[in-house]
Amino acid sequence: MTTEGPRFSEGTLAEYRALLTRYPQRRAALMPTLWLAQREFGWLSLPVMEYVATLMELPLAWVTSVASFYTMYWKEPKGRWHIQLCRNLPCALRGAGAIQVAVERRLGIGDGERTADGRFSLEEVECLASCGTAPVLQVNNTEYHENLTVARALELIERLASP
Ligand code: FES
Repeated sequence: MTTEGPRFSEGTLAEYRALLTRYPQRRAALMPTLWLAQREFGWLSLPVMEYVATLMELPLAWVTSVASFYTMYWKEPKGRWHIQLCRNLPCALRGAGAIQVAVERRLGIGDGERTADGRFSLEEVECLASCGTAPVLQVNNTEYHENLTVARALELIERLASP
């Protein structure tokens, strides 16, 4: 493996090695390894996928096909704050559409877009599995905001927008 290009930090490499012990075959650890790569590098560029393929001794096509199948793997850079808006029925019935319009208007971007300053990106997603607290959005794949209203969603944006 060359010293050029993306490489896991020592900490992430240790996590990767620990992952391998949980699977009977190295290739079975591909999805969690891609998740580590996304966390480490922000998104899965081709050089990152090449690094994962080399690290795991897998064909690049195998890595790229898994990464491209699942929307949770990002194949382009996202904003510092990546906002995922649920578009499924329970959220829609409880006002997700108005929230989406308000957020898009506030940020000046639509689904799949990123603000010019790189601070925000937006993505419509399928059910976030929190229908009982609809409408819901998720920030950076980790943080849920539930029982939203337009006002609460815009407050959140202002909070994230402040330095
Ligand atoms: S429909 Fe929005 S979380 Fe399930």
